[in-house]
Amino acid sequence: MTLKLGVIGAGAIGQDHIRRCMQTLSGGRITAVNDINSETAASAVRKYAVDATVVLDPHTLIRSNDVDAVIVTSWGPSHEEFVLSAIETGKFVFCEKPLATTADACRRIVDAEMKHGQRLVQVGFMRPYDPGYRALKAVVDSGKIGDPLMLHCAHRNPRVGKYYTTDMAITDTLIHELHVLRWLLSDDYISAQVIYPRKTSQALAHLRDPQIALLETAKGTRIDVEIFVNCQYGYDIQCEIVGELGIARLPEPSAVPLRSQAARSEAILTDWKERFIGAYDIEMQDFIDGVREGKLRGPHAWSGYCAAVAADACVAAQTSGAVVPIDLPAQPAFYA
Ligand SMILES: NC(=O)c1ccc[n+]([C@@H]2O[C@H](COP(=O)([O-])OP(=O)(O)OC[C@H]3O[C@@H](n4cnc5c(N)ncnc54)[C@H](O)[C@@H]3O)[C@@H](O)[C@H]2O)c1
Repeated sequence: MTLKLGVIGAGAIGQDHIRRCMQTLSGGRITAVNDINSETAASAVRKYAVDATVVLDPHTLIRSNDVDAVIVTSWGPSHEEFVLSAIETGKFVFCEKPLATTADACRRIVDAEMKHGQRLVQVGFMRPYDPGYRALKAVVDSGKIGDPLMLHCAHRNPRVGKYYTTDMAITDTLIHELHVLRWLLSDDYISAQVIYPRKTSQALAHLRDPQIALLETAKGTRIDVEIFVNCQYGYDIQCEIVGELGIARLPEPSAVPLRSQAARSEAILTDWKERFIGAYDIEMQDFIDGVREGKLRGPHAWSGYCAAVAADACVAAQTSGAVVPIDLPAQPAFYA
């Protein structure tokens, strides 16, 4: 049986997921699309899913008999409402990161899911599906570089729009690292600090950019993550792990080394959709397969909650400048 999927939020990633479900993946098709702007939903349907219906009310879409599972790709602050509604209806839901924009909101989702008694939520953290991150984790887990002592990471975007605010550098951007580094190290954060280098002239007046997040883990590993969302030159994700016996780096996406006009060069991607295209494909196929088998395997709501607890600490650290402790409760057996 082909899974009927309903999408809430038909912007950049919503459209990209609609396209991959309809053109690349198997086992699912888009049957309903909602967006707060109905013309945006209609345009996505015209482009990628001509048989789907534009549904004006998101809660009607969630309850619809024409929808077996829900994909939430609207703005972060609206995620909690839609995920809770899907859980209440007993439907599987894929929610783009962040699961919600605060730890309290994520906790309400975790509590609702545990009360329901079965995992229904997969969070759109796609990096653990990326072959580069998987290879890096295999090296760490093999012990080849010994215990990780320090991580130097960077999350750079060419530019951001006027609605991007200083706290979004944490809740919308760093949230990827907060999730993936915990997974990579099999460790938990215990503190966070945020410092601001000299501000780039390329950022709008309201935005502090770049920023550096400094994290400490329970095992004592120190992590620095540069968040620079108006770097101009490309979409560039870096991760270097310094271990006791050696150094491991996240592989660069492959590019043709070029010799031309008296210079050697390699192109750098500028679009996040391209940088992680393979990971998004595997991630969404895993969601579709998991729903069809009645058992999700991808990043769970608890990992979304843990990332949000760390994000809350970073947001507090942005204003206080202090080192903010991070205290995570033990993982419930439900999420083992
Ligand atoms: N996993 C990733 O790498 C990745 C990449 C990009 C975006 N995202 C996440 O996906 C989400 C959407 O990001 P985007 O870049 O597509 O943004 P976008 O602004 O391009 O699209 C969001 C869409 O949601 C709609 N929307 C907003 N509030 C809504 C509501 N209450 N009900 C229905 N529709 C609503 C907007 O009209 C817009 O069309 C964000 O949470 C973002 O962090 C994840």
